[in-house]
Amino acid sequence: MLTMPSGTSKFLSVLLVLTICASYASADSIQQSFLQCFDRNRISNSPLPPSCYTPTNSSFSIVLQSTANNLRYLVPSVKKPELILMPTDESHIQTAVICAKKLGVQLRIRSGGHDYEGASYASEMEEPFVILDMAKLRMVTVQIEDTSAWVQVGATIGELYYKISVESKVHGFPAGLCSSLGVGGHITGGAYGPMMRKYGLGADNAIDVRMVDANGQILDRNSMGEDLFWAIRGGGGGNFGVILAWKVQLVPVPEKVTVFTVAKTLEMGLTKVLTKWQQVADKTDENLFIRVIMQNSKTPKGDKTMLGLFQALFLGSADELLKVMQRDFPELGLQKKDTSEVSWIESVLYIANYPSGTKPEIFLEGKPTFLNYFKAKSDFVREAIPESGLEGMFKQLMEDEGSLMIWNPYGGMMSKIPESQTPFPHRAGTKFMIQYVVTWQDGESSKTRHMDSIRKLYNYMTPYVSMFPREAYVNYRDLDLGMNKDGYASFIQASAWGSMYYKDNFNRLVKIKTKFDPENFFRHEQSIPPLPVMENKKVTQWDTTCHTSDDQV
Ligand SMILES: Cc1cc2nc3c(=O)[nH]c(=O)nc-3n(C[C@H](O)[C@H](O)[C@H](O)COP(=O)(O)OP(=O)(O)OC[C@H]3O[C@@H](n4cnc5c(N)ncnc54)[C@H](O)[C@@H]3O)c2cc1C
Ligand SMILES: *[C@@H]1O[C@H](CO)[C@@H](O)[C@H](O)[C@H]1NC(C)=O
Repeated sequence: MLTMPSGTSKFLSVLLVLTICASYASADSIQQSFLQCFDRNRISNSPLPPSCYTPTNSSFSIVLQSTANNLRYLVPSVKKPELILMPTDESHIQTAVICAKKLGVQLRIRSGGHDYEGASYASEMEEPFVILDMAKLRMVTVQIEDTSAWVQVGATIGELYYKISVESKVHGFPAGLCSSLGVGGHITGGAYGPMMRKYGLGADNAIDVRMVDANGQILDRNSMGEDLFWAIRGGGGGNFGVILAWKVQLVPVPEKVTVFTVAKTLEMGLTKVLTKWQQVADKTDENLFIRVIMQNSKTPKGDKTMLGLFQALFLGSADELLKVMQRDFPELGLQKKDTSEVSWIESVLYIANYPSGTKPEIFLEGKPTFLNYFKAKSDFVREAIPESGLEGMFKQLMEDEGSLMIWNPYGGMMSKIPESQTPFPHRAGTKFMIQYVVTWQDGESSKTRHMDSIRKLYNYMTPYVSMFPREAYVNYRDLDLGMNKDGYASFIQASAWGSMYYKDNFNRLVKIKTKFDPENFFRHEQSIPPLPVMENKKVTQWDTTCHTSDDQV
C-alpha cells in the first residue's frame, strides 16, 4: 500500500469545501485528499469542472469499462483505480499531475483504452492509482490549406480519418487499421497501418504536440525541444507526460483506391503462396500493402485447416493493381472481380472489417465492434521463413482454436527512415512484423490454456525471427518480456524489454527520461526508467535504501 508522505497529514488538516465532486464517505481516503488538492490547485476557473468517479459512484464501473479493450483486465482480481478523473479542460490535467505528484499517487493515462496489457486502466503494481481518462478531449481541427490537423488525444483514429475525409477526398493519414484506437496512446507508440509502406508511421507524420510534463507545465514542440519531441514519437505511452493533442501531417491519397481480400487454405496452397508473399510483400510497389491474417478454419469435410486471408490496400486503380500483381505476385491469383475501387475513407471501413455499406459516420461513435479476453505478442522477421518452419507453425496454431496470426509487410518508406530517427527502430532489413493473438470469451476458465498456447507458439518461432535483440513492438505491450513490479526497475532490468522495443534508442530514451522526469512520476509496468540522480544531496525515489519523500508535498 501507499505510505503517505509525512507532509500529507498537515495537508489533510486543511478543511476544504469540495466543489468538483460529490462528498465522500471515508475521510482519509486517497480520493478525498486527491480531490481536495485538486480543488485547491485549480489553475483556471474553467466553466466545466472535470467529471470524477469514485468506486462508490454508480457509474464507476460503466466508466471504467467504457473504453477498456481487453476483458482480461476487467476481472475482479485485477486492481481497480481509486478514482477516475475525466478532464474537460487542459488545465484539469495540469492540476491532476500536480496533485498526484504531491500525494504520491500513480496516474494512469487513458486515451482509447487499447493497451494490450491494460496499462491505461489496470495495474499490476502495489501502489494505488488514479485514471486520467482523456475521453472528453476529442476535438479534431483539419486544416486542408496547410495539409495538417490538430487532434486531441481522446479522439479515436477513426474520428480523425473521418474528419479528414469530410474536408477532402484526396487527403488521409497513415496510422492504424482499427478505427477505435485512441490517438493518445496510438501515435506515441508508433502507429502503423495500410499506408506505412508509402508514408511511414503515424509517429513519423506527427509534426507538433501539446503535452503536460511532470511539473504540470504545458509544452509544445518548440518549448520542449527536439530531444523530448523525438522521445514521444515512438517511445510509447505513459513515459514522458500527458499528451493533450497532436498536430499531424496529412498525406495525399488518390480519389479512388483499391481493396481486396483473397482467401487461401492449406488445401488451396497457402504454404506456397505465403512463401512467395515473404519474398515480395516488402519489395513490391510502395502503394501496395498486403497483410495476411491466418486463423483456424475447417475444410468442407470438417477437418481442421488454416485459412490465410490476404487483405490489401492499393493506392491506385484496380487496373494498375492487376499489373503490379501480375508482375510481382501472380501466385495469389488475384482477379478483377476480387477487387473494389472505393474512396480512401471507405477503404478504412473495409480494412477495419465493417460490413460493406456501413457509413463512415460510424467512426463518430468511436467504439470497437466487439470485445474479447486476449493476449498478444509480436515479432519482426528479417529472413523468409522456410516451408518447413511454416508447417510447424501451422501445426502449433491449430492447437488452439482461438489463436491467429497477422503478418504486416514492411519495406518502402519504412526502410528509408533511419533506425535512430524516432525511437521506433524496426526499419531497414525488416521484412514483416508478426502479431500473435489468442482470444477467448469464457473469462478465467480457459485463460491458462490460451496463455500457454500463445507462449508455446512464440517459443516455436524463435529460430525464425529477429534475434539479439528479439524485437517487439511497444504498442503491442507484452508483460511476458519483463516488468518493473514496483515501478522502479533498474536500467539493467528495464533493458530486457527496452532493447526489444527500441534497440539502441533505449539508451537515448533513458537519458531523456532522466532529464525530464528524474523522479519517475510517469511510470507503469514497462515504463522507461530514469537513471538514479543525486541532486543537492536530496535522494530521489531511486535509492531504495533510504526513502525520502519530504519533497513531495
Ligand atoms: C484491437 C486493436 C487493434 C490495434 N491495431 C493497431 C494497428 O493497426 N496499428 C498499430 O500501430 N497499433 C494497433 N494496436 C495497438 C495500439 O496502437 C496500442 O494499443 C495503442 O497504445 C492504443 O492507444 P490507446 O490510446 O487506444 O490506448 P490506451 O490504453 O489509452 O493507452 C496506451 C498506453 O499509452 C498511454 N497513454 C494513453 N494516452 C496517453 C496520453 N494522452 N499521453 C501519454 N500517454 C498516454 C497509456 O497510459 C498506456 O500506457 C491495436 C490494438 C488493439 C487492441
Ligand atoms: C458520479 O459522478 C458524476 C461525475 O462527476 C456525477 O455527475 C454524478 O452525480 C455522480 N453520481 C453519484 C451517484 O454520486
